[in-house]
Amino acid sequence: MRQPVEYPLTTIVPPVWPTGADLRPPRPQTPDSLVGNTPLLALRRLPAALPPTVHLLAKAEWFNPSGSVKDRPALNIIRTAEAQGLLHPGMTLLDSTSGNMGIAYAMLGAARGYKVQLALPANASPERKAILQTYGADLIYTDPLEGSDGAMMQAREIAAACHPHIFYANQYNNPANWQAHYFTTANEIWQQTGGQITHFVAGLGTSGTFVGTTHRLKQLNPSVQAVAMQPDSPFNGLEGLKHIPTAIKPGIYDEQLADEQVTVQTEEAYQMARQLAREEGLFVGISAAAAVVAALRLAQTLEHGVVVTILPDNGFKYVSERFWHNA
Ligand SMILES: Cc1ncc(COP(=O)(O)O)c(C=O)c1O
Repeated sequence: MRQPVEYPLTTIVPPVWPTGADLRPPRPQTPDSLVGNTPLLALRRLPAALPPTVHLLAKAEWFNPSGSVKDRPALNIIRTAEAQGLLHPGMTLLDSTSGNMGIAYAMLGAARGYKVQLALPANASPERKAILQTYGADLIYTDPLEGSDGAMMQAREIAAACHPHIFYANQYNNPANWQAHYFTTANEIWQQTGGQITHFVAGLGTSGTFVGTTHRLKQLNPSVQAVAMQPDSPFNGLEGLKHIPTAIKPGIYDEQLADEQVTVQTEEAYQMARQLAREEGLFVGISAAAAVVAALRLAQTLEHGVVVTILPDNGFKYVSERFWHNA
């Protein structure tokens, strides 16, 4: 007779099969149900020099189904428009995007039967363009020298024709963008830190993440300090972020919310992206690395505190960039 195989190194946990009473029809899952509730990670090795009373935590937003924080506002913008009767199957959702919001719209739109038309700068990374095309989005390339503002102007021009089958999502001016973070991101952070958060740090693109999360956190505890981060110059490699003084100011941005404004250089973010990959095992995008630069800088000034930041996406879409291979 054959002897049973032994597995000396592994503990085998037998599966628990449902009994008759536990059997229920499977609950259908849609991409919507996968949005939000992302893990909060503790950065352990980078902040080694910090006192044990200072914690550096980060939301891993690439756990959202299309791979970035932008699934939250895209879903809320779509649901709000549907509830208001502005969007229904057969229609086209139009917006400008630097990439991630477009990917979120394209994923959610495909699942609902909407066409998605996006204006984006022609120099968006090849990975982003390929992902958008895979979801079937219609892409309009705009002048790379005009950046995300040029893409926004192009989308506005198309929207101005008021075609009845087009819904202009207008992420820079749509309150459903920041409200997504007010209702989800902030409450998750509050629960995941047991209400212990003392500082919140986030980068500014449309500003939806910063505005919505800060607004709610300050309602929950007015002493939470909010730090807004942006690139140090108009010409930078922090994809997804805006240099606010030289860009068209997003309509949803509320300057009064920030207790402090900080800038990060592209080189600092590149260095941090490599360090996070090699020392924390976290392969994050460039704006995420910039957020960690700003959050760590702040944490180093504290004696006590729980600093939370947002990692908007992971590094897969930036893998063709050369900076990963520098020393
Ligand atoms: C990679 C990345 N980081 C940061 C942001 C900024 O987020 P928000 O638009 O909520 O300010 C974006 C927005 O598109 C992004 O794509």
